[in-house]
Formats: sequence, structure tokens, C-alpha cells
Amino acid sequence: MTSIYDAIKADHNEHRKLLDTIAETTGDSKERKDAWQAFFNDVKSHAAAEEETFYSKLMHETWGQDAARHSVSEHKELDDLMEELHSTDMSSPGWLAKFKTLKHDYEHHMEEEEQDVFKRAKEVIGQEHNNAFGTRFLERKKEEMSLIEKKRQDSLED
Ligand SMILES: [Fe+2]
Ligand SMILES: [Fe+2]
Repeated sequence: MTSIYDAIKADHNEHRKLLDTIAETTGDSKERKDAWQAFFNDVKSHAAAEEETFYSKLMHETWGQDAARHSVSEHKELDDLMEELHSTDMSSPGWLAKFKTLKHDYEHHMEEEEQDVFKRAKEVIGQEHNNAFGTRFLERKKEEMSLIEKKRQDSLED
């Protein structure tokens, strides 16, 4: 059994590691490509699962609404930036500059979730539900992982 907070934090720590790996590698090396692909897929499914299990709950309660809206709009900004990076040549000079912006913004986003958002969520989600939310988050994330390509195709066709 994993609480929703531990599940989200474990993902964040993995994302922090991948961000560091990408920053430390060079050009379009295999190591960087692999780390980027892992980051891209995991962050997309993580954010979708957060929205569907965690933020949707917070959104219903006055106390969580502002924080939830703020985070979800950051998800959109981060996703746009990730899509831009995904379609840019990794060895081009612009790529690393853009990646650094993403790294900075996403690290800030995770920090805010773990501090401010978790504090608010704990007012909204009773402690006895922490594990049930954690389980739902992990299941949702797994489903999202398998939907990534389909969702990307759909949004490109819009
Ligand atoms: Fe998030
Ligand atoms: Fe998160």
C-alpha cells in the first residue's frame, strides 16, 4: 500500500534524477535520448494521473480549488514545452536552452506540489483515504502510459 503522497513523491524523485542525467549528458547521445524518452513518458502519465485522481478531488473543495487550478495550468505549460523539445533536434543549440527552462520550471512545480499542494490536500482528503488514492493514482498512471501515443496523435490532428 502506497499513500498518494508517497507515490507522487517517488515519481518526482525519479523525474529529478532524469532531469539531472539529461543536463549532464551531451548532444544527441544515446544516454540523453534514453533519459529524455523515459522522462517524457513518465511525466506525461504522472501529470494525467495527478489530474484525474488527485486534482479532480481538490477541485471540488473550495480549499483546494485555487491550488489545483494553478497546478493544472502549469501542467499545460510544461506539456507544451515538452512537446516543443520533443520535436526539436537534441544537438541543436536551442535545445539545451529550452531544456534548462523546462528543468527550472518543472523543479519548481514539483516543489510547490510537495509543499503547498500536499498541505492543502491533507485538509481535503481524510488520512484514511491516502492509500486508496495512492492505488488509484498508480493504476491510472499505468493506463495513461499505454495511451500516450494515441493521445498525442489525437491532439496533433486537432
Ligand atoms: Fe504536477
Ligand atoms: Fe507531480
